[in-house]
Amino acid sequence: MWTKERLQKFAKEKLSDSLLVMVSNREPYIHVFKEKQIKCLRPASGLVTALDPVVKACSGIWVAHGSGNADKAVADEKSRVVVPPQTDKKTPTYTLKRVWMSKEEEEGYYYGFSNRGLWPLCHMAYTRPVFQHSDWLHYVSVNERFANAILEEIEGENAFIFIQDYHFALLPKFLKEKRPDLIVAQFWHIPWPNPEAFRICPYKKPILEGLLANDLLGFHLHYFCDNFLDTIDREIEARIDRERFSVFKDEKETLIRPYPISVDFTDTSSLALSKVVKKNSKKFKKEFDLDDKFVFFGLDRLDYTKGIKEKLLALDRFLEKYPQYIGKVVLVQKGTLSRIHIQEYKSLNDEINTLVEKLNWKYSNNGWVPVIFTRKDLSYEEILALYCSANACVVSSLHDGMNLVSKEFIASRNNEDGILILSQFAGASRELEEGAIIINPYDTEDFAEKIKKAVEMTKKERRRRMKNLRQEVAENNIYKWISKIISDLTSLEK
Ligand code: F6P
Repeated sequence: MWTKERLQKFAKEKLSDSLLVMVSNREPYIHVFKEKQIKCLRPASGLVTALDPVVKACSGIWVAHGSGNADKAVADEKSRVVVPPQTDKKTPTYTLKRVWMSKEEEEGYYYGFSNRGLWPLCHMAYTRPVFQHSDWLHYVSVNERFANAILEEIEGENAFIFIQDYHFALLPKFLKEKRPDLIVAQFWHIPWPNPEAFRICPYKKPILEGLLANDLLGFHLHYFCDNFLDTIDREIEARIDRERFSVFKDEKETLIRPYPISVDFTDTSSLALSKVVKKNSKKFKKEFDLDDKFVFFGLDRLDYTKGIKEKLLALDRFLEKYPQYIGKVVLVQKGTLSRIHIQEYKSLNDEINTLVEKLNWKYSNNGWVPVIFTRKDLSYEEILALYCSANACVVSSLHDGMNLVSKEFIASRNNEDGILILSQFAGASRELEEGAIIINPYDTEDFAEKIKKAVEMTKKERRRRMKNLRQEVAENNIYKWISKIISDLTSLEK
């Protein structure tokens, strides 16, 4: 079993004198001004939840966009801050280096090219991608700025650079141009589409060339790796070695590998047993009047790929078909506002409000409503309390690279009871299909039947499934994920 301690030892041995540099757009800790004080928050991001323990374990450096309004106020002259804020001396810390950008750059690189272009291009959720040349130019220059920030930080040292996601398709090339000796790996956290879908991107060639500057390129699923290789085959001059599962471009090799990401099972499950989580569970039970109800819980960024509308429609159909459950079930849905400057996200937010209002009006009965929708900022302990207070967690993504909510829910269920309703279009469904109730979120009739199945499932069956799920996630945890990547990377160095 991979643990934090085992990873620490392993990373020390394997990385020896090399520095681990994690790179992502979203920073793991955000400083904001709140009521005239500076607060340090954790963003709503599965990526951050998964990688924070890894950087702590390896005492690395994390380079990310400084997006909080108090970020500059706490950073030193090299834009660095030590995280997490030390509440106890036992928590290992690391350096977070922030990269600054103007509003205009953020608009072009993040909202524009990354999230109006690449995001819908890679997710099959029927939202049309938009590519604007001015956005692309910002994407290029921000990628270059990150490269300079990383190079400044490592100076002449040996380093493993581990880049996260679609915000940085060009970064590996910028790094390798200046420091060909660096070992550079990238993990693409979202799906890679089939070549037919990808070919519409006007910047496909520089994107693919940028990615092939990596020594290693990881995806969650084998299926995404296959799509990537097929895309290379169609779009650029390169040799694909199907035996080695790698691509040779101008004699440079890039390994392509699947690594299904996970969570810190042990920490999540022990925190779920803590007093503060129990206290929060009691608070929510009272506040939301959850006693004697079958509680469904949903936790999603308000994103059109997450299938939140589909979840509400299925609940509606379930109550329509089985009115005996009116007053007896409730869906607590936490939605985190996301990328709200983009029109599609604004519209989604409005549509969800309308749907919730319609549903609650249709079925409200003696003060009971079927949906409790909250957008409140919640601490991690409060989120765990909601996982623990629910009977079932509903993940209904229309398309999702992995989805770590499903794995966090499983890790928090120390009582070995509870049901996971999981979309077949979330990457996680490949590993969790044995224990979860698998749904197609587009099939409202079947989704409603699966809700009924969850409500009526026997305790014995629930426990059998949850035991199975917990074993899967405990074994394939985040430490195993990163150790496999480190091991593949260091074998490259040799
Ligand atoms: O998992 C995909 C991803 O884009 C991550 O890179 C990111 O941390 C998360 O979704 C949340 O999105 P954002 O950082 O745009 O709020």
